[in-house]
Amino acid sequence: MAGGTLHALIRSTACRALRCSFGPRRLHTMYRMAELPETHQMLRQTCRDFAEKELVPIAAQADREHRFPTEQVKKMGLLGLLAMDVPEMYGGAELDYLAYSIAVEEISRGCASTGVIMSVNNSLYLGPILTFASKDQKQKWLSPFCTGDRIGCFALSEPGNGSDAGAAATVAHLKGDQWVLNGTKSWITNAWEASAAVVFATTDKSLKHKGISAFLVPMPTPGLSLGKKEDKLGIRASSTANLIFEDCCIPKENLLGQLGQGFKIAMQTLDSGRIGIASQALGIAQAAMDCAIDYSEKRLAFGSSISKLQAIQFKLADMALALESARLLTWRAAMLKDNKKPYTKEAAMAKLAASEAATAISHQALQILGGMGYVSDMPAERYYRDARITEIYEGTSEIQRLVIAGQLLKDYRG
Ligand code: CAA
Repeated sequence: MAGGTLHALIRSTACRALRCSFGPRRLHTMYRMAELPETHQMLRQTCRDFAEKELVPIAAQADREHRFPTEQVKKMGLLGLLAMDVPEMYGGAELDYLAYSIAVEEISRGCASTGVIMSVNNSLYLGPILTFASKDQKQKWLSPFCTGDRIGCFALSEPGNGSDAGAAATVAHLKGDQWVLNGTKSWITNAWEASAAVVFATTDKSLKHKGISAFLVPMPTPGLSLGKKEDKLGIRASSTANLIFEDCCIPKENLLGQLGQGFKIAMQTLDSGRIGIASQALGIAQAAMDCAIDYSEKRLAFGSSISKLQAIQFKLADMALALESARLLTWRAAMLKDNKKPYTKEAAMAKLAASEAATAISHQALQILGGMGYVSDMPAERYYRDARITEIYEGTSEIQRLVIAGQLLKDYRG
């Protein structure tokens, strides 16, 4: 099966060599070629085969039934797709972020819900633990979440604050050797299936964003309940719900990073997360594009296939341009991260470009399919619905513009 090939690829010597090959010289070569090295191309092909075989056949039904793809997520865990940049010593695939971006795109091309499940576990749950946890915390909170047996979630937003992440109303008080959490976190992807959460809460309100801290919370745990599964426009096979904390006690040692470091942990985590969501958007856009090209070749009107009409060709050309520009921005952001260069602005640009491309491309794909695009016999309407969230979660398009402008002005002012 495709998965076996991917597993072999991830563990192969070739991939280990690949991990060492992304120095600055490699970065320049990549820009010049605008093409992937052979090992990344192999990874892309095997992820594509996996998506074709395991995800495409179930995506429509899972969406219709709001059904979490348990079996498929488990297989992805065994392949290493749920912990792509986690070191092998913790059970991860120890690949780079470019590989991660390619894999999220291919998985999302097959099923966008599975794409976000994968992205949240990799970027938002494992990411901050990898960077900020102590050695002991890593043993406990990383390894069991690499194989698909358990997945994690990330709890930042609240009913009263989404974009204004620094205004957290959820509080954590130290009582003896325990933190006591109270408040509600909202829009939490993977909430119903998660076995742990990275949770942000205010430990000192007077310090505003500098008074926010991050915590590792096991799930389920007394004092933590789940809200209803949200009935969403798209990505319906992934769960989204509130986490409600009512005198929820967790051990003192579950503080992640330093006291008051939570806002920075959240912002840094979202920089990486935005590469994941950009990649998810690319996958949705590519699927919509493929669907539109295929239909335009087969659909006859005015005596020939509609792909012969300039009206259709102009659409296809604009769709391809938006998609490929966004993909290059996304790969650039991933490579900057891999090369340990600043990438906040580039990740925001990637997410902005890719999510707006996904929305525009899925809109035009539906237009090309006409009535057939509007009914669920074809996947175009699902791509259209799935694309929309990529402009909202992990920072709206408006927030991405703020981040980009903020970085531009910071650079200008020196
Ligand atoms: N990395 C590290 N530090 C950063 C940073 C970054 N990318 N961005 C900002 N900071 C630091 C700043 O340097 C500053 O530090 P000091 O106080 O030491 O000077 C501090 O954070 C505050 O910075 P700002 O003044 O810029 O902060 P702000 O309050 O104006 O907010 C914002 C900035 C960009 C609007 C931010 O609040 C933001 O990104 N909001 C969007 C939140 C978001 O994306 N939420 C999505 C939730 S996750 C999700 O979608 C769920 C899911 O499951 C998929």
